[in-house]
Amino acid sequence: MEAEEFRGHFPIFSDGGVHLCSCSEGALSDRVTGALNDFVTSWRIQAAPWDIWMEQVNEARKAFAQIIHAEPTDIATLSCASEAAFQVSWGQSFSETRNVIVTTDLEFPSIAHVWLAQQSRGALVKFVENHDGLILSDDYAPFIDDKTTLVSVPLVSYANGLRFPVREIAGLAHKMGARVVVDAYQGLGVIPVDVNELECDYLFAGALKYLLGAPGIAFLWVKPGLSHANDPILTGWFGRQDPFAFTPRILDYADSSRRYQTGTPAIPAAYAAKAGLSLINETQAARVTQHVEKLAELTQAALMAQGWKFFSPNPPFRGPQVTIHTHDAEHISQFLADRRIFVSPRGQALRVSLHYYNNEQDIHKLIQALHDYRKRYP
Ligand SMILES: Cc1ncc(COP(=O)(O)O)c(C=O)c1O
Repeated sequence: MEAEEFRGHFPIFSDGGVHLCSCSEGALSDRVTGALNDFVTSWRIQAAPWDIWMEQVNEARKAFAQIIHAEPTDIATLSCASEAAFQVSWGQSFSETRNVIVTTDLEFPSIAHVWLAQQSRGALVKFVENHDGLILSDDYAPFIDDKTTLVSVPLVSYANGLRFPVREIAGLAHKMGARVVVDAYQGLGVIPVDVNELECDYLFAGALKYLLGAPGIAFLWVKPGLSHANDPILTGWFGRQDPFAFTPRILDYADSSRRYQTGTPAIPAAYAAKAGLSLINETQAARVTQHVEKLAELTQAALMAQGWKFFSPNPPFRGPQVTIHTHDAEHISQFLADRRIFVSPRGQALRVSLHYYNNEQDIHKLIQALHDYRKRYP
């Protein structure tokens, strides 16, 4: 699907809105609206059509598998990324000789919190720090040794859009016998991902940002064949070999990655995820990346000409997000939102994120509005 046709699926644009906050929540498409309506209709008319609803969950899983070039059986559906991180962490053992989790100060806090919570199990968490918004594999290298058990590398940082050299870091980790976990939330959908090429051991993402779904569902891919120190302690009937066996005395874990699942899936979120992912799966990943990179370039150049400072790095390290460094992020964001231009503030970062549905007009409107802001608040 070409960019213009893709954009046509998102009514916010024909409504006069400028959606530049996919890093926070993807735009609502006609397909997701239709899918959520289908859910409500099925509930109203068919009362409790669990077989139809579970099919939606399976379809969402399949669509996610397609995006990351994996098998659906290697993917668990969970409620959020933090839950996925917990399932990964619980599978690791933290012994006296190997107990280090390596993460970064550009990790999304909730994920870092899950790593920190493992301290009560003997883990030691080390943070690779950014320098001027940049982290390279050379920065990870001194932290990874034969004491490392798990290395966490975001695909893209939520904070500034830094694109991490995942594959290089994975190489360093594997050389030392450590495993690699990738939080792909801030890039999947606009950055091509093939888990085999990334050479990671675990990858997770929620559906609501660049994957264009709704809150309530996340996917965890676990490399097939990995052995784990512990079976999941966070579990439930959807983690069983046969969830519909109804045997309270038997805790048998599914052989596939379904073993990481817990209770009843968020059915409306599964409907939305399937619909959002269907749009992504009708695009060509390389085309999408090229489109987004071009817009990011245009955005950064225009902002630079206005004299803004950046927290996002330059290519090739810049992901789908251009990040302005400013003390007034909240204020500017509100000024823009009043003009129906939606960006995302986080502390001193004003995040402008780009998807295949954005076009040059969106950027021109943003730049004009920022020009007006500067004039009004010199
Ligand atoms: C990179 C990244 N990971 C995780 C999350 C959210 O995690 P959870 O799904 O547990 O709320 C975000 C959210 O905003 C994020 O940007």
